Amino acid sequence: MKIVCAYSGGLDTSVMVHWLKERYDAEIITYTGDLGQGEDLEAIRLKALRTGASDAVVDDLRRRFLDEFVFPALKAGALYEGRYPMHTSLGRPLLAQRLVEVALERGADAIAHGCTGKGNDQVRFEVTAQCLAPQLAVIAPLREWELTTREAEIEYAEARGIPIPVTKAKPYSIDQNIWGCAIEAGEMEDLWTEPPADAWMMTADPADAPKESVNVIIGFHHGIPVSIDGETMDPVPLVARLNAMAGAYGIGRIDMVENRVVGLKSREVYENPAAIVLYAAHDELEKVVLDGATYQYKQKLAIDFAQLVYGGLWFGPLREAMSAFVDSTQHRVTGEVRVRLSAARAMVTGRRSPYSLYDAGLATYSHGDTFDHRAAIGFLKLYGLPYRTWGEVSRRNG
Ligand code: ARG
Repeated sequence: MKIVCAYSGGLDTSVMVHWLKERYDAEIITYTGDLGQGEDLEAIRLKALRTGASDAVVDDLRRRFLDEFVFPALKAGALYEGRYPMHTSLGRPLLAQRLVEVALERGADAIAHGCTGKGNDQVRFEVTAQCLAPQLAVIAPLREWELTTREAEIEYAEARGIPIPVTKAKPYSIDQNIWGCAIEAGEMEDLWTEPPADAWMMTADPADAPKESVNVIIGFHHGIPVSIDGETMDPVPLVARLNAMAGAYGIGRIDMVENRVVGLKSREVYENPAAIVLYAAHDELEKVVLDGATYQYKQKLAIDFAQLVYGGLWFGPLREAMSAFVDSTQHRVTGEVRVRLSAARAMVTGRRSPYSLYDAGLATYSHGDTFDHRAAIGFLKLYGLPYRTWGEVSRRNG
């Protein structure tokens, strides 16, 4: 038996490699995708081999992550339950897709992941695998093994000489990539407790933000961010630069209670500095270039789109159809938006586009007004007609 196993280099997946090998008498190939989590991937690769993998595949997925997952969600305006930019929810289907690709290339029988039974990530891994390669088996050791505590895992690892992370881990469960960071557990399991200062990874405390605010001009082409302050940039450096700029101002901190797919509520603390700035800018540009009906329809679609992504249905037919619709709305979402960054705040202060539908002559309250005020009289006769009728009936019936 041959198994391709998702591997991060942490305690769970390190123990998992060994456990799978013993339990299934299998050959294990590990897979690690770089989504911008800022870890030493060569060290992870070597560690996987020392842990007993026959081969360790590592690749840089940052560009693919942004192009194929993050930007489609940005174009859709999708935020789960109105707030969360879904850096984790968007990353899992790509990791699962790569796991499947590697499994098929290497002729493996199964893939394995290190998700627990009460999280969302198992859903995203497994539904992706079901969509893309239903013939592959999926193994989730953390749902079935006897190592139910961290201590039990450490004991298992020490008894078998498995290298375990030496750094004293923070008491949090952290999932970071180029689009953001999620921090769970520890004292934050009490909903009333403020996130402790050492929980934050990508953002400064807004109280320590620079006194002077700063302007950043973001250029979009067909709904995709392509420049900062007039300088054309590739997606990875563009997002990295915005993370650094906005993070220094403490922008992008989110503290929310959310509804998980498996039915429970969880407290989630997120940091998404670049995402918050880009969502604000993209939305503003759409307000200027889209007709009102399309803009307002997109707002409704954004809610459903976010629910599909959060629920692991990225590779399902509805998400793909929705993306086709969203793309058809983005042809004119080209232009620039100026955002002022200050402590904990990204505020749009300017927007321009060759496709702007804003007509200063129609909008002005001073000289040069081109709006036909008399046309409003007939408009109101018809627009108000049902309400005049309604009002008459109310009056007659007292
Ligand atoms: N609740 C978020 C989601 O399901 C983030 C989960 C992050 N995972 C973690 N191990 N901290 O998308």
